[in-house]
Amino acid sequence: MIATSSLDSTVESYQYKIQSCDTLETLENLRLEILGKNGFITQQLKILGQLDPESRRHQGAVLNQAKETLSKLLQKKKQDLEEHHLSQRLAKEAVDITLPARPWKVGKIHLLSQVRQQITDYFQKVGFQLAEGPEIEDEYHNFDALNIPAHHPARQNHDTFYLKDWPHRLLRTHTSTVQIRSLTQQKPPVRLISLGRVYRSDDLDATHTPMFHQVEGLVLEPGVHMGHLKGCLMDFCRSFFDNPNLTFRFRPSFFPFTEPSLEVDICHSFGKSDQRWLEILGAGMVHPQVLQHCGIDPDTTQGFAFGIGIERLAMLKYGLEDIRPMYQSDQRWLDYYGQRWS
Ligand code: DAH
Repeated sequence: MIATSSLDSTVESYQYKIQSCDTLETLENLRLEILGKNGFITQQLKILGQLDPESRRHQGAVLNQAKETLSKLLQKKKQDLEEHHLSQRLAKEAVDITLPARPWKVGKIHLLSQVRQQITDYFQKVGFQLAEGPEIEDEYHNFDALNIPAHHPARQNHDTFYLKDWPHRLLRTHTSTVQIRSLTQQKPPVRLISLGRVYRSDDLDATHTPMFHQVEGLVLEPGVHMGHLKGCLMDFCRSFFDNPNLTFRFRPSFFPFTEPSLEVDICHSFGKSDQRWLEILGAGMVHPQVLQHCGIDPDTTQGFAFGIGIERLAMLKYGLEDIRPMYQSDQRWLDYYGQRWS
């Protein structure tokens, strides 16, 4: 058993050690050394039993006193170190909430949105209204009403996404559906465009994506004929490509929902000596059967329609050879082709 005088000096030296601890970890080691299972005080308490009752009582009181003194000191030191640790962390991780957000990055308008806006602006200026239709369509609006009955070869040309759990529902393969939707709600005269997404189960390559955008135009007005259709499209293209001398080629074509039908090519130059004809759109006079499906008498009303791929227009205007980057969200591409908000 340790003598009282030497117990006093041991307690004193522990007090000193506790005071000079500067981390929670060393303090915990010290606590174990004093109060742990094999700690100094615990060991002393264990041998109390071997003493005679008189000395046990005396020695017990002295030991308990020492234990309490050291426990309190350990406790107090632990609190101090924790507080110190917290205030250090707060100082280190301080945030100046009065500073502006950094880095100051502002998003830009995606190229496709810019082109959509340019198309919309042009057509609105010449009196067209905007119309909309759903992207999930039925076979009637996407095919039948547009004079593409079941088993018509044109259905095979549109690689259609059918909805698995919804019979006869599909993702529209073209915006021509909006012709039907609008004409069943609104009677002629109409002059409308509709821009939106269309879907075809094409493989992804430089010029195809399973989802792309089209703009559909429809004009039903008294006395409207092919001349108006050609003038309308030429004026739009010259304005869109900002080239009053743009030259065109109108080729006879076939679409089930127009008669006659045509495709339009523009002469596009890729550099000085490389000029090529490029197809940019399909159009025609609205087929009498389409009008009949919408309850309109084809003997008294006629008009024209056209459909243009928006990605294709964007690629021609901005000289892109690959459609894929438009959908890859590459920050560098977005930054280069994006337009600042004004
Ligand atoms: N719907 C056609 C397609 O997706 C494009 C089209 C051609 C639309 C001629 C028309 C049109 O309105 O008259 O390929």
